Amino acid sequence: MYFKRQSGESISNRFYKKVCRAILTEQSTMAGDGTEKATVIEGKEWYMAAYAPQGVPSSDHLKLRTVTISLADDSIPDGHVAVELLWISVDPYLRSRMTGHQDGLYMPQFKIDESALKCMLMQVLVAFGVGRVIKSKDSRYSEGDIVLNPYFPIAEYCVMPSDSLIRKIDVTAGIAIPDYLNALGAPGFAAWVGIVVLGEAKPGLNVFVSAAAGGVGMFAGQLAKLRGCRVIGSTGSDDKVKLLKEAFGYDDAFNYKRETDYDAALSKYFPNGIDVYLDNVGGKMLEAVLNHINIGGRIPLCGMISEYNKTWKERDGVRNLLNLVGKNVRMEGFLVGSYLNRFQDFLKEMEDYLLQGKIISKTKTYNGIDSFLESLGSLFSSTNNGKVVIQVKVNDIYTKFLPKPSLS
Ligand SMILES: NC(=O)c1ccc[n+]([C@@H]2O[C@H](COP(=O)([O-])OP(=O)(O)OC[C@H]3O[C@@H](n4cnc5c(N)ncnc54)[C@H](OP(=O)(O)O)[C@@H]3O)[C@@H](O)[C@H]2O)c1
Repeated sequence: MYFKRQSGESISNRFYKKVCRAILTEQSTMAGDGTEKATVIEGKEWYMAAYAPQGVPSSDHLKLRTVTISLADDSIPDGHVAVELLWISVDPYLRSRMTGHQDGLYMPQFKIDESALKCMLMQVLVAFGVGRVIKSKDSRYSEGDIVLNPYFPIAEYCVMPSDSLIRKIDVTAGIAIPDYLNALGAPGFAAWVGIVVLGEAKPGLNVFVSAAAGGVGMFAGQLAKLRGCRVIGSTGSDDKVKLLKEAFGYDDAFNYKRETDYDAALSKYFPNGIDVYLDNVGGKMLEAVLNHINIGGRIPLCGMISEYNKTWKERDGVRNLLNLVGKNVRMEGFLVGSYLNRFQDFLKEMEDYLLQGKIISKTKTYNGIDSFLESLGSLFSSTNNGKVVIQVKVNDIYTKFLPKPSLS
């Protein structure tokens, strides 16, 4: 990698290069023209060591190792870029890629088989992320570009085919970088598909959202409010109940760990029944909702996080599915990947809301790549508020570019 001082370069560019110099490790030499050249960087990455069919994955299953990456010109193939990761999205679906069997979400499993051992890269966990190009062998990308990818390794650095990058991010657009993983990423899109497309939210409907203070839930509630619905959320702590009502505009909310008789709670909060239930948790809450759903109601099944750490025989049964028949209810599972034809509609709407301050987002930020295991575990407790992300580079220059609407 070469650092060449050019006349007229911007302050942020110079600062970026200064930061880069600090990160790149020792093995640097002076190139013939006097510019600085660093060829090898060292970074950490998470890999799958053993599957976890039950319970929350631990350090027995997920491990961190240090690898080196060469940035020498001939080490990076044409059509590839070297990227330093800035932000990583920590999402519940990752759990379903760690069980060792496909069911439920039917996500491909992270590989740990012998062939994978021969090719270390295959074991590396991948997730949505935002990174900065530090070397490019593709004329469409330049050093310093901020890029988005659904399949970045959960790592500090990587080299990858540039075709796998979804887009460049314009850091001057007025949108906080983590929002590309949050409001404009899978959580925001899932909320939009659930509330707008499948839920067909419209004024006067009674909408219920579970896991309401998380990534999907916070946007689902705000989108339903913007469409004139009455919205109630459930979540796992009193602080989050407050957040739902005071920050995200929910009409009311309850702590499902305090109000453990869900049937009674739903009678109290929905005297006129539920028209739309965006299900994020499944299990006993879904069962209770079926006793309160109105005729012609809709239940978009976004996820069932209460069941993710169980094998299928341990999962909660839902005994009153018969209500769907008698009340002509449409209950429908979905993955955002099946609605990519609507992504641009969603993006336009959500970007406008963010820029106008009509929708706010909140992130729970973990610092440094080492925090991945803890951040993943936090999805299965009630310890996080908002969308869980990892800021890989703590004090990165782009943390300074966070615009106001983001709470953290
Ligand atoms: N269909 C799709 O394409 C799609 C896309 C994105 C996400 N999802 C799904 O949407 C749901 C929410 O995802 P997210 O990214 O927004 O995560 P999140 O809500 O930010 O985090 C998960 C939250 O789930 C709650 N939770 C954990 N264990 C629970 C349990 N046993 N019972 C009830 N609640 C529990 C916790 O909050 P509390 O404090 O409320 O307990 C936790 O903070 C997940 O089911 C996920 O799989 C689906």
